[in-house]
Amino acid sequence: MHGLIVLAHPEKNSLNAQLAGAARERFACGGNTVEVLDLYEAGFDPLECGDHYGCRANGAFFSALTEQRHASDTGTLPADVAGAIDQIDRADLVMFQFPLWWWSMPAILKGWIDRVFVWGGVYTSSMRYCDRGRFRGKRTFLSVTTGAPEPAFGPDGRAGNLDMILWPIHFGLSYVGFEVLPPLRSFGVISDSAQGSPISDGTSSCLSALNRHIDALESLEAIRFNTSADWDREGRLRPDAPSFSPFIRHARPISADPS
Ligand SMILES: Cc1cc2nc3c(=O)[nH]c(=O)nc-3n(C[C@H](O)[C@H](O)[C@H](O)COP(=O)(O)O)c2cc1C
Repeated sequence: MHGLIVLAHPEKNSLNAQLAGAARERFACGGNTVEVLDLYEAGFDPLECGDHYGCRANGAFFSALTEQRHASDTGTLPADVAGAIDQIDRADLVMFQFPLWWWSMPAILKGWIDRVFVWGGVYTSSMRYCDRGRFRGKRTFLSVTTGAPEPAFGPDGRAGNLDMILWPIHFGLSYVGFEVLPPLRSFGVISDSAQGSPISDGTSSCLSALNRHIDALESLEAIRFNTSADWDREGRLRPDAPSFSPFIRHARPISADPS
């Protein structure tokens, strides 16, 4: 198996960087090959814009979709994007390591997805969802650290339900074909760089949990999503299709107006 670890954290001694390093070791000791893409170290530019495209379809008006499609079709994708797609193509498993920032991923990782998951090369209307997506057959999981403690991320927690917070990220990965495994969640991580100790006391338990998660990957049940056959012509969930998430559910019939 070949693994790719995508790390989105600006500090080399952070818990996130340590988790990525530990994951690399754990994968490798099982006889697998693994590469780490450290987005900050690579200086990845997360801003999608016309400057990246040397051979524009339209030099007067920048449409990201138009230029992504044109560059995919003409083999002129930006070198960093083409390189990232090659990295994913080589991998059987992709792990994303990042801290929760404002209920989402850090901007550098969001921008990596904006730029790398290109229309044309990575998805089209006939090449998408877990059954027809380009990256089908590959597995992925998120390893996310949070500042707030675990109870705050429960269904009734003040930080919001983490399963729902992560759903849009999971759905995007499923949209391009990945089989999405349950995330590793490291809660209540408080960095203490002022004391020269860049990470919390919980570091060793986070690293142990990571090793357990990696060792259990083969037995983890993938998160379920709808497939291409579940949508009607308008793109709505067919009445007989399953619903796996409050984000995509059967609309309740509108009750008669009592007045
Ligand atoms: C810009 C920013 C936004 C953050 N947003 C959240 C958040 O929405 N929820 C949360 O629990 N923690 C949040 N945090 C705390 C980070 O998740 C926490 O510091 C990180 O997971 C610790 O890992 P690290 O030591 O590797 O940086 C935020 C931190 C920063 C810097």
